Formats: sequence, structure tokens, C-alpha cells
Amino acid sequence: MKFFIDTANLAQIKEAQELGVLDGVTTNPSLMAKEGIKGEENIKKHYVDICNIVTGDVSAEVISTDYEGMIREGDAFAKLHPQIVVKIPMIKEGVKAIKYFSSKGIRTNCTLIFSAGQALVAAKAGASFVSPFIGRLDDVCTDGVELIADIRQIFDNYGIRTEILAASIRHPMHIIQCAKVGADVATCPLSAILALLKHPLTDSGLAQFLADSKK
Ligand code: G3P
Repeated sequence: MKFFIDTANLAQIKEAQELGVLDGVTTNPSLMAKEGIKGEENIKKHYVDICNIVTGDVSAEVISTDYEGMIREGDAFAKLHPQIVVKIPMIKEGVKAIKYFSSKGIRTNCTLIFSAGQALVAAKAGASFVSPFIGRLDDVCTDGVELIADIRQIFDNYGIRTEILAASIRHPMHIIQCAKVGADVATCPLSAILALLKHPLTDSGLAQFLADSKK
């Protein structure tokens, strides 16, 4: 399973990259706003900065909701860097935009996926990734991981090559559960990735080894 980091924070992206297990980055307008990145030119520059830190895919999300606007924004993002994947919301105009980008060989990530039907339509339009938001489903008493499993089954039934990018991951067990049901990618906060490394028996075992080495 690929690990993406879900942030626009350059320090966190660098930290994850230096760990040596990072395969890409996802952002969204809320994450950009959190870092105080405003205005079209600053946003584009920030995406280039991210591409210069990591070697993998970097999802850049459009804010237009009409077809022409999404095409204009997505075309401009795609020209910034070969690592850019244009992130498009799961709405009717977005599906048309995904089809346009796919016919031009520009990779897309269809975001705000909350049902298997939405994932299937995005895949049929040619999305490179679909992003089911599992944490937000859990928040409303719906099993987010079950959605990942459903999409996996459907994509496998038909040999669909669109990658399942589990998003809205809140904790390390989400990552493990997504890996068990076959998500292709998990996009995570840095805290969830770092939490995978931790185990109290590792810490106590290491402390014991270091103490014994001095004997
Ligand atoms: O990037 C989209 C997604 O990961 C958002 O997560 O925590 O805001 O639901 P969250």
C-alpha cells in the first residue's frame, strides 16, 4: 500500500519524506487555508514547492464547480509539474472534467467520495484515483472501511485500474484496516504515520537491550 501525507505543511511533508516511506501528497482547499496559502499564484507556487520535496504524486484540488472553470484550473495545475494529479470533486460537472483530463492523459483524483456508486462513476470517467473519506463516514455512524472494501470488490470484479485512495484517515488503525481490505493508497496525517512505528514493547525492549549492553 502506498502512503501519502494529507497536508500542505512543508515541514511535515519534509519530515515524512525524510522517513523514506512517502509515496505522495494530497491537499485540499481547507489544508491550504490552514497554512495561510491564499491567491492563485501563491497556491501554484506552493504546489511546485511540494513537488520539489517529494518524488511521488501531488494532488492539487480545483475550487471551481463549473466544467470550464475546472478545466482551466486543472490544465494550469497540470502544467506546473509532472507529479501533479488534478483533484476534482464528485459532482456532475466534475465527472465531465475527469473524462476530459483522462482523454488528455492528465491524471485525476476524484474527491469527496462517500458511496460505491460515486467511485464506480468516477472510475468509468477515467479517474486515476478515487478518494473515499472514511473518517467523515465514521463521524456519521457509517462504516468508512466497509466502503473501501465494497469499492475494492467492485473494481476487482471488472479489472478497474483506478486506485482506491483512502482519505480522511484519523488514526493508525484506519491505515491497518484499509490495508487489510486492499486500499491502494492511504493518505494520512503525519501523526497517524508516525503512530504506526510505536509499540510500548519495542520501547521497553530497546531500553532493556541498551541497559544490558552496558553490563
Ligand atoms: O484530503 C481529504 C481528507 O483527507 C480530509 O480529511 O480529516 O478533513 O475529514 P478530514
